[in-house]
Amino acid sequence: MNPIRNRRLYPISFHSGKFVSFKNGKKLLNLASNDYLGLSDSDLYRRALKEFSLPVGSGASRLLAGNDEFMLSVEERWARYRGFDVARFFPSGYQLNVSLIPALMGSADLVLLDRLVHASIIDGVRMAGVRFKRYRHNDLEHLERLLEENAGKKVWVITETVFSMEGDFAPISEIVSLAKRWGAKVYVDEAHSVGVWGIEGISDVDVLIGTFGKAIGLWGAYVCMDKELEWQLLNMCRGFIFSTAPSPLLFYLVEFFLDSILPTLNLDDYKSNIGKFRSSLGEIVGENLLGASQIVPIVLGTDEKAVRFYELSLERGLFCPPIRPPTVPEGTSRVRLSVRRDMDWSDLVRVVDLVSEVFGR
Ligand SMILES: Cc1ncc(COP(=O)(O)O)c(C=O)c1O
Repeated sequence: MNPIRNRRLYPISFHSGKFVSFKNGKKLLNLASNDYLGLSDSDLYRRALKEFSLPVGSGASRLLAGNDEFMLSVEERWARYRGFDVARFFPSGYQLNVSLIPALMGSADLVLLDRLVHASIIDGVRMAGVRFKRYRHNDLEHLERLLEENAGKKVWVITETVFSMEGDFAPISEIVSLAKRWGAKVYVDEAHSVGVWGIEGISDVDVLIGTFGKAIGLWGAYVCMDKELEWQLLNMCRGFIFSTAPSPLLFYLVEFFLDSILPTLNLDDYKSNIGKFRSSLGEIVGENLLGASQIVPIVLGTDEKAVRFYELSLERGLFCPPIRPPTVPEGTSRVRLSVRRDMDWSDLVRVVDLVSEVFGR
């Protein structure tokens, strides 16, 4: 591997809200977090923890002794919140995608994947041994052509709501209508939109997965589906059957999120900051700015340029690590700037200044 692509752990000594502190003592504004709402380090969860009195470990898999009424009641409430019959929680989103896709899709099926779906989905499709074709990113015409060519087969369409490295939205309602017209099922990963964006048509998909580790500020993941598909999960999903159930603590904090955080969440200022940040950057970098969400990627092209941006960000008190292939396609190395709700405009202006310095504008 080209040494510039070597992956390594960053020398972070600790996290604190919107900052990371490096081992050399530098405190940096963290532009690389998925904790979009700043909840993971909030006093809200900390206060809830003081009241926690359940066992810390679940002690067994869900299908043996690792299940109880409390877990089922929180999953039921989560299913209702997302607009589905059933929800089941998993230890992580990666584990969920790699084990649920093989449980639902077999060699008789065909999977149509958006070209830019997350690695966990690709790995799940590979583990399923199912035939798959990729359609061009968010391209409904290409998707429809593939659906038409494969009419009569058992087809699944898999996409995300907000794409993790592009920051753009998939047209979920349109994808669901197309899939319905051609008799296909739809599997959607809402890891980067849940808690932040309402997505039209989301409760009409067949399988909805998402994670608690991003905007919700926790860890773990969920799938929402109907009772018939749940049978396949309970009987065939090896990542559910053969893995210790998530900690009761996760269920407890998810319930706390639903009861005490969600009802008072106001994202107006957050979304207006995202809009202002995007338009300021757009004036500087033009088409190199991608997407429309809180994930703000700027394409720099070569690995060297992305690494140089990162190094300069450190000098300016910012943490903007480079994103390189194979995470993104060749020639599109980038920085992925992630806006958190606890960043105010004075924070974001520092990033705009850095981008302006790099682009010489
Ligand atoms: C779209 C998407 N799905 C799934 C995952 C995996 O979730 P987890 O981090 O809970 O394993 C990620 C993680 O970044 C993701 O971006």
